[in-house]
Amino acid sequence: MRLAFLGFGNVGRRFAELLGGPYGEVLRARGEKVRVTGIATGRHGLAIDPRGLDLGACLARVGRGESLDALHRGRPVPKGAFLDRVPADVLFEITPLDPRRGEPATAHCRKALSLGLHVVTANKGPVAFAYRSLRGLAERKGVSFRHEGAVMDGVPVFNLVERCLPGNRIHAFRGTLNSTTSHVLSRLAEGWTLSRAVAEAKRLGIAEADPSNDLDGWDAAVKGCALANVLMGGSVRPSEVRRRGISGLLPARVRRDARQGFRWRLVVEGRRRGRKIAVRVFPARLPAGDPLAGSGGDAALLLETSLVGTIGVLEGGGTIDQTAYALFSDLLAIQDLLREGVRRAS
Ligand SMILES: NC(=O)c1ccc[n+]([C@@H]2O[C@H](COP(=O)([O-])OP(=O)(O)OC[C@H]3O[C@@H](n4cnc5c(N)ncnc54)[C@H](OP(=O)(O)O)[C@@H]3O)[C@@H](O)[C@H]2O)c1
Repeated sequence: MRLAFLGFGNVGRRFAELLGGPYGEVLRARGEKVRVTGIATGRHGLAIDPRGLDLGACLARVGRGESLDALHRGRPVPKGAFLDRVPADVLFEITPLDPRRGEPATAHCRKALSLGLHVVTANKGPVAFAYRSLRGLAERKGVSFRHEGAVMDGVPVFNLVERCLPGNRIHAFRGTLNSTTSHVLSRLAEGWTLSRAVAEAKRLGIAEADPSNDLDGWDAAVKGCALANVLMGGSVRPSEVRRRGISGLLPARVRRDARQGFRWRLVVEGRRRGRKIAVRVFPARLPAGDPLAGSGGDAALLLETSLVGTIGVLEGGGTIDQTAYALFSDLLAIQDLLREGVRRAS
């Protein structure tokens, strides 16, 4: 199977490292062979090699801040033509999130699907802004559109509902899905100032490039739409989410409530209201024992289902390895589907 990456930042590089280690071992044990035939970036050039790129060399070059262009084999690729040229079966779309429009990631996914590639993304933009049309396109083309990493990194959320809850309808969800605000609110409870807590979240690499996307609830709103649209069949846009962030919360109030056993968290909630799904994001004061009141940057999601009541998943402090695993689990799911198809056809 030939893999291509659009984006080779934190997530793409960690995924590539793990492909050379434990993921490679799993693939070998399953009798699967993969090679990465192309990588395109924003400011670090691109490389295509139909025989398979040397991932160690790609990692080293980007790690030194150098361009990948020197590893490219074949004719030069005009700007915007990477997907037309790369000989690949699966595209990993791992470019940055634009929480206001979901672009250019949505356009990348659409183009790859229309060219007959399976698409795996950790970018919630395409899922929040264009899930239905991308899913429909994938079905018409007979390929997969998978996005487990878009919400809660490698914790199965979409796969949980798709594979483990057959026959259920999701009536509602409620979660703390933005690790920056959970981290910042935990620090405010300890007496830190907002600016110091945000600076630390940036240093730890958990904050979005523009932290106001976290603090003002945009990131949570985009995740809420992804959940509403995939798990509940909605078509909610981030601009339709009732959104209140944490910037207006007074640190003194957070500190005082912490002393009384309460934790503030930025909650995202989706609920069926007649034929519509209402999504809202708001700061909530939770008793310390509440399943959503985890410590530090923990994330949690509760699902109200039609047949098994309320169930939940928890992520203890998300790391980049968990996001890389989401990509890997989607790759394995595609391989399983292809094997199943071959078995049925034979
Ligand atoms: N980091 C996490 O823990 C995490 C968790 C869950 C989901 N995600 C999602 O995963 C995605 C990737 O995250 P990340 O942390 O790896 O981001 P990142 O470190 O900022 O890397 C983004 C990569 O995309 C490249 N890029 C930017 N614009 C591009 C374009 N138009 N065409 C091709 N490549 C382009 C960048 O290239 P240059 O650097 O050369 O400009 C860089 O290689 C994001 O959507 C993010 O929301 C991340």
